Amino acid sequence: MKATAKAHTNIALIKYWGKRDEKLILPTNNSLSLTLDGFYTKTTVEFREDLTEDIFYLNDKLVSDQQFNRVTAFLDLIRDYAQKNTLFAEVRSINEVPTAAGFASSASGFAALAAAATRALQLNITDQELSRLTRQGSGSACRSIYGGFAEWEKGTQQDGSDSFAVPVAPKDHWDIRVAAVVLSAKMKKVSSREGMRRTVETSPFFSSWVDSIPNDLTEIKQGIKDRDFEKVGRIAEANCLKMHATTLGANPPFTYWHDTTLAVMQTVQKLRDNGIPAYFTIDAGPNVKVLYLPENEEKLQQTLREIPGVTDVILSRSGQGVTYL
Ligand code: DP6
Repeated sequence: MKATAKAHTNIALIKYWGKRDEKLILPTNNSLSLTLDGFYTKTTVEFREDLTEDIFYLNDKLVSDQQFNRVTAFLDLIRDYAQKNTLFAEVRSINEVPTAAGFASSASGFAALAAAATRALQLNITDQELSRLTRQGSGSACRSIYGGFAEWEKGTQQDGSDSFAVPVAPKDHWDIRVAAVVLSAKMKKVSSREGMRRTVETSPFFSSWVDSIPNDLTEIKQGIKDRDFEKVGRIAEANCLKMHATTLGANPPFTYWHDTTLAVMQTVQKLRDNGIPAYFTIDAGPNVKVLYLPENEEKLQQTLREIPGVTDVILSRSGQGVTYL
């Protein structure tokens, strides 16, 4: 009744932005991501007879707030799924995702939790099924089941039975890299959950965003297949800009960008003008992730570090999917 799993975070190149069902976490559009090797969560789940409620330790600290509620709600889902099990669990997670890097640790967190909990209950399930369960903890987490590139299929069923991620290309297909540019800016004020909701409900740009996704996906998948860096980068950057444009149309309007965010974006565009291929993408926060190729690592890192307001640059390669320890 005990198992340990490790899952890595992922960065979306085609963003998940908008839900059609908040409870089941069903998205309005397909999304596509790259799993990263630099950032992961390791989680041990043990179902125990002596417990009267779930307990959750994150980095050896007992958690009792909103984060705990999401973990215990997710364990309820797994218990329901397993049917016979009603035991409570002790969950111990170690996060190797520097929160300052602006990566949602919820992606690696829920992927590792789902994998460890289902393994502890000896449920023999496919990656697809694991992804479908993981989705209900945090949407973007369902892509972290796989290494390399993965696509989350939004599905068409109301019950979410066909909404899960599938592999697109394995980790070793292509040595494409990501620099996480850390800014001194403060934590985000609008969570991705709240930001998405507000955008879906109020932004007149939202429907055009959704309409534009299928074409972006077709193009980027061809680019990944051909290892066409320019194509993949161009589509990812434009897709990110479109996602962020929807937030400006929301009511009340909001943006995740800070002045340094813009400075990094402009620097990346300038690098391109100078013959260094690099493209940015940004999630629901001020930090920027930059896609680049190994041969440009040194120059890129040095240039990004020189931008005033940048406190760190963390480099990452394509990472693996869920593993069991
Ligand atoms: C901007 O997966 O954190 O990073 O499903 O509500 O838990 P919930 O949201 P979450 O949203 C991630 C949004 C994004 C884009 C992406 O990762 O695709």
